[in-house]
Amino acid sequence: MSAAAMSLDGKVALITGAASGIGRAASLMFAEAGAKIVACDLSEAVNETAQAVRDAGGEVMAVTMDAGSEPDVIAAVKAATDSYGGLDVLFANAGITGGLRGFFEGTPEVWAETLRVNLIGPFLAIKHGAPEIMKRGGGSIICTASVAGLRFGAGPAQYSASKAGVINLVQTACQSLAGTGVRVNAVCPGLTETGMTKPAYDMARAAGKEHKIGQINPLRRGGQPEEIASMALFLASDASSYLNGQAIAVDGGLSSSHPVAPGTVREVEEGLKTVREP
Ligand SMILES: NC(=O)c1ccc[n+]([C@@H]2O[C@H](COP(=O)([O-])OP(=O)(O)OC[C@H]3O[C@@H](n4cnc5c(N)ncnc54)[C@H](O)[C@@H]3O)[C@@H](O)[C@H]2O)c1
Repeated sequence: MSAAAMSLDGKVALITGAASGIGRAASLMFAEAGAKIVACDLSEAVNETAQAVRDAGGEVMAVTMDAGSEPDVIAAVKAATDSYGGLDVLFANAGITGGLRGFFEGTPEVWAETLRVNLIGPFLAIKHGAPEIMKRGGGSIICTASVAGLRFGAGPAQYSASKAGVINLVQTACQSLAGTGVRVNAVCPGLTETGMTKPAYDMARAAGKEHKIGQINPLRRGGQPEEIASMALFLASDASSYLNGQAIAVDGGLSSSHPVAPGTVREVEEGLKTVREP
């Protein structure tokens, strides 16, 4: 295999949540890698993503749709096959937090809507996208989960549970597609600067605390949408041809640790001093 395996030349990629953040970054990056893009979102701003892709020389169509609605998902997949003749890559990325509530403030309505978009959405994308990808002899499906789906501490309860569900969904889907050549994986972003996290970033900046963002991961910073999109591109491409049924954290190292006692943190800092100032 060569570095050319990262190319998506001649492929058709459908991306949900493409109006903003990770989905917009992926639309631009996948197009740059040679794919024709079907950019889907609930928001009309998906047309701005499509314009940005066109301005960069890419081929794209915008579809306004609800990723948690079965008729809308069927229509989006049909738009891809009607316009571009097939489907090779599906990035089920649209997501919502459901609002920042405490565990006991959750309601069945909030849970149902969060699960509908974040978990049933990727299920529907796989259900209706995989048969088209199979017609091409195989391809790749990527779902956006989250470090919040790995364990407590990175989002509200309904959001974390929905993302844990996505991690199981890719395992189940990869097994359900055994022998078809369709790979299914998840990317688990840590804190990333997008529309979803804008309120937190805005609040930190307004309080002069921007330098504190992302300090709990070893890279000591938040991520940028392109740093998640590049993992999605790797998973979409033949460069990851033997990678299947996995959930890969892209989080600056956040999920590599158990909670640490203050003494352990001091030890690490003392150890680093001897390296920095030998
Ligand atoms: N930003 C982070 O820190 C972070 C961390 C972990 C996981 N994620 C996940 O990344 C994915 C992308 O989010 P983002 O961070 O780029 O946020 P974002 O808000 O910038 O983008 C999400 C997009 O999804 C769209 N969307 C919401 N509901 C939809 C629906 N029902 N149908 C179609 N589109 C819909 C929104 O309109 C928006 O354009 C989400 O699944 C999110 O849960 C984000």
